[in-house]
Amino acid sequence: NASAQQQQKQAVAADALKYIESGMILGVGTGSTVNCLIELLPKVNLKGAVASSKVTEDKLKALGIEVMDLNFTGELDLYIDGADEVNEHLQLVKGGGGALTREKIVAAASKQFICMVDESKWVQQLGVGFPLPIEVLPQARSYVARELVQLGGEPVYREGFVTDYGNLILDVYGLDIGLDIEKVAAFEAKLNNIVGVVCNGLFTAQRADILLMATADGVKKLTA
Ligand code: A5P
Repeated sequence: NASAQQQQKQAVAADALKYIESGMILGVGTGSTVNCLIELLPKVNLKGAVASSKVTEDKLKALGIEVMDLNFTGELDLYIDGADEVNEHLQLVKGGGGALTREKIVAAASKQFICMVDESKWVQQLGVGFPLPIEVLPQARSYVARELVQLGGEPVYREGFVTDYGNLILDVYGLDIGLDIEKVAAFEAKLNNIVGVVCNGLFTAQRADILLMATADGVKKLTA
């Protein structure tokens, strides 16, 4: 039920807080799980934060946390974010909130990525229960959709939604992303090769280093 899930989100956020050191510049993700963490951030003395979305940026600023430009911070020690799905290799589907590109950039620019999920996000195969979000340049929307149909997918245009970068999102159902770690990575690269695709929601090179998963028996830690 909804309140049990909310409690799991709070539990996993409280656990993630332990990995944050004072004086850090923290990469901060987007979504309802991360929002639980943001509320706890005033407890740690951060030097600043890099936000993975405008929404997160506004929340951080409201708490008086300095939001920094990734072009001037250098590599970050730690990025913490949620996910829409995670498999046993700690590969992820992200982008339910539409912030996938900024999230992938901050994840790539960080030494360590800690992903916080409740157990509803754990799946055998990525992209089956949750459609894969793909950010596309506006002019290429229809072309990319046709290419995705060729790959066996059913792309659905996320109407009325524009990303922080002014682009569009296609949510793709029915793709056979595969189970094997290399196969999933190859699928991510294949999607990136379609002209007009800015980024897709598969995180393979940017998969989690540490997964904190809230369960009914407490928070479990898994490492890649
Ligand atoms: C945002 O674009 C997503 O990648 C989020 O990380 C994802 O949707 C997780 O959100 P919740 O914590 O709200 O499930």
